[in-house]
Amino acid sequence: MAKRTKIKDILASEQHDYQTTVMGWVRTFRNNQFIALNDGSTNANLQIVVDFNTMEEATLKRITTGAALSISGKIVPSQGKGQKYEMICEQLEILGDCDAEKFPLQPKKHSLEFLREIAHLRFRTNTFGAINRVRNTLSYAIHEYFQSRGFVYLHTPVITASDAEGAGQMFSVSILDKNNPPRNEDGSINYKEDFFGRATNLTVSGQLEAELGAMALSEVYTFGPTFRAENSNTTRHLAEFWMIEPEVAFNDLNDNMDLAEGLLKFCIEQAMSKNADDLAFLDQRLAEEEKQKPMNERSEMGLLESLQFVANNEFVRLTYTEAIDILRESTPNKKKKFAYPVDAWGVDLQSEHERYLVEKHFKRPVILTDYPKDIKAFYMRMNVDGKTVRAMDILFPGIGEIVGGSQREERLHLLEQRMEEMHIPTEEMYWYLDTRRFGTCPHAGFGLGFERLVLFVTGMGNIRDVIPFPRYPKNAAF
Ligand code: 4AD
Ligand code: MG
Repeated sequence: MAKRTKIKDILASEQHDYQTTVMGWVRTFRNNQFIALNDGSTNANLQIVVDFNTMEEATLKRITTGAALSISGKIVPSQGKGQKYEMICEQLEILGDCDAEKFPLQPKKHSLEFLREIAHLRFRTNTFGAINRVRNTLSYAIHEYFQSRGFVYLHTPVITASDAEGAGQMFSVSILDKNNPPRNEDGSINYKEDFFGRATNLTVSGQLEAELGAMALSEVYTFGPTFRAENSNTTRHLAEFWMIEPEVAFNDLNDNMDLAEGLLKFCIEQAMSKNADDLAFLDQRLAEEEKQKPMNERSEMGLLESLQFVANNEFVRLTYTEAIDILRESTPNKKKKFAYPVDAWGVDLQSEHERYLVEKHFKRPVILTDYPKDIKAFYMRMNVDGKTVRAMDILFPGIGEIVGGSQREERLHLLEQRMEEMHIPTEEMYWYLDTRRFGTCPHAGFGLGFERLVLFVTGMGNIRDVIPFPRYPKNAAF
């Protein structure tokens, strides 16, 4: 094919009066004269001016919304408002027709719910173009942050036989005949005959394997898909989501918090500097959406403002116990406004409590530490009080929990004791315990839910809109 120039580069350049070729999809065609062409490099369209006197009638008719075109011509300063340059069309080829009657995307505003049903086409809207470019910048930023610090990117398995993490319900992986599986004498399914010779699942987290890597490479991180079969129909949960899990030998919880806070701020800064146009568009989008809400439900900050705010301010760090005291004394708790009232120490925090702390009380991101052991995983390091563990959750405005992590229990006898208390089979987990037997050391790590980060940075309201093809209960389309 002819060499093409990206529309983003044409619009960003100071040059004009040169010949080039562009390829993209028609957004609109006005007055048989002005084509708005988009190639996904930016939300800005390139205006192409065609001379309808010289163009064949049949070709003009085929320039419809959604059609794919290749156009060659001259880039000149634009006469009209709204764009710096435009192209004077000299040669136009229709690469792919698009029947305007049947094409579901019309040049008008569609609801996000409708666009979710046509997720295979929603990339072609300004909103989803912007979201996916920001998502791309954020994934690159994750790698850049860790790579520049000497971390090793570790690929942990997607299929796993361990279900020790206890992070959530698992999806099973099996090739046995569902209608007639081999059975043991007691009637249970005989997984010895299954593909792996044992029951296997899709992973809920790569942490345990990342810990094995960290015990030799010192600093590792994973970035891959994880799966949870919880029936959580919320705007914050997916059944398949991407998680970043760094694990670092010789780090304690303070180092862990610094690493996580630094990562979040770096990612936000990268998006602000590389996706300024997309974020300005999403800021506007959110502002319009906010206008539809009653006054008392509107957020105090716009998108760009809140990104700036998070990037420039220190996160508040406090213990679970301190947070419970604040929540217990809070107005919504006293006025019985919480769906889950906060009374006794030891209760798990609900997202209404997390959001109260972040959005109303501190008005900035919060890192909660030292949770009761009973509401956290077995591998978290026990504190001297014997009641709390060295856990940390990072809570973000509008999102709630964005990061969960801890310093790990590196002392073999305490880890074994905790596993027995929680009925986790120590024999089966010999490989995990081996790291504590052979050269154990203090170490810490965390998991960042990638889609929750994209949700925050794009200001979108539903996690199903920040991953191209969301998986959630009763939906695995595309
Ligand atoms: O808090 P979680 O369950 O922690 C772990 O899995 C640890 N193994 C992490 C570690 O220490 N290495 O999950 C970590 C993060 C959450 O804070 C949240 O951002 C995200 O993963 N997350 C989800 N995101 C989307 N949909 C879901 N169903 C999610 N569940 C957790
Ligand atoms: Mg968690």
